[in-house]
Amino acid sequence: MREPASIVRKYGPKIPPGNVLDLGCGEGGNVLFLAARGYNVIAVDRRADVLEELRNEAAKQSYAHRITVLQEDIRNAVRHLDGDDPHYTGVVCTFTLHYFPQPVRRNLITALKADTIPNGIHIIAGLTTRGKRSIVHGLTIDELQAYYSDWKQLCVALEPMGGHKNDSELERALVVARKT
Ligand SMILES: C[S@@+](CC[C@H](N)C(=O)[O-])C[C@H]1O[C@@H](n2cnc3c(N)ncnc32)[C@H](O)[C@@H]1O
Repeated sequence: MREPASIVRKYGPKIPPGNVLDLGCGEGGNVLFLAARGYNVIAVDRRADVLEELRNEAAKQSYAHRITVLQEDIRNAVRHLDGDDPHYTGVVCTFTLHYFPQPVRRNLITALKADTIPNGIHIIAGLTTRGKRSIVHGLTIDELQAYYSDWKQLCVALEPMGGHKNDSELERALVVARKT
């Protein structure tokens, strides 16, 4: 079974009970971890193969009914999942935001913040521009912090990307923030 991102393992259980959106969920380590802890998780990814793995793993679990899997582009999903009232107690997006140009991810985060209940938590991790490998749309920690300047920031960190095959060349930016 896929492991959750370490930042989700640490801060995921602080998300208030309710609906959590995982954007770019991949094989679903975060999704399974959160659903096992009672959250209703909407898992979005565009890749059929990874979602198939997630569905297969979820089907073996007693909490499968709490997982909704959507094969969709994140940009469309954020638009059409957008409700009139804030809906999410949490949003998780680990190692996916750097797939989007900066203006796109700013718009995504703005929409997601508006769709999050007071005290809801966002857990965001992405690769930075630092390192030898070329991360075209790498994040900066300043950018992530600026998105959440009006929320309480529970964690802000820059870390080497341990565990990755090119870990000495990659760095991750992490922000966990609570809506005030
Ligand atoms: C590096 S993986 C991260 C997976 C997981 N969140 C994790 O932490 O292990 C990035 C995921 O984002 C998905 N992705 C990238 N761009 C996307 C887009 N525009 N719409 C939907 N999914 C996307 C990819 O298919 C991939 O599964």
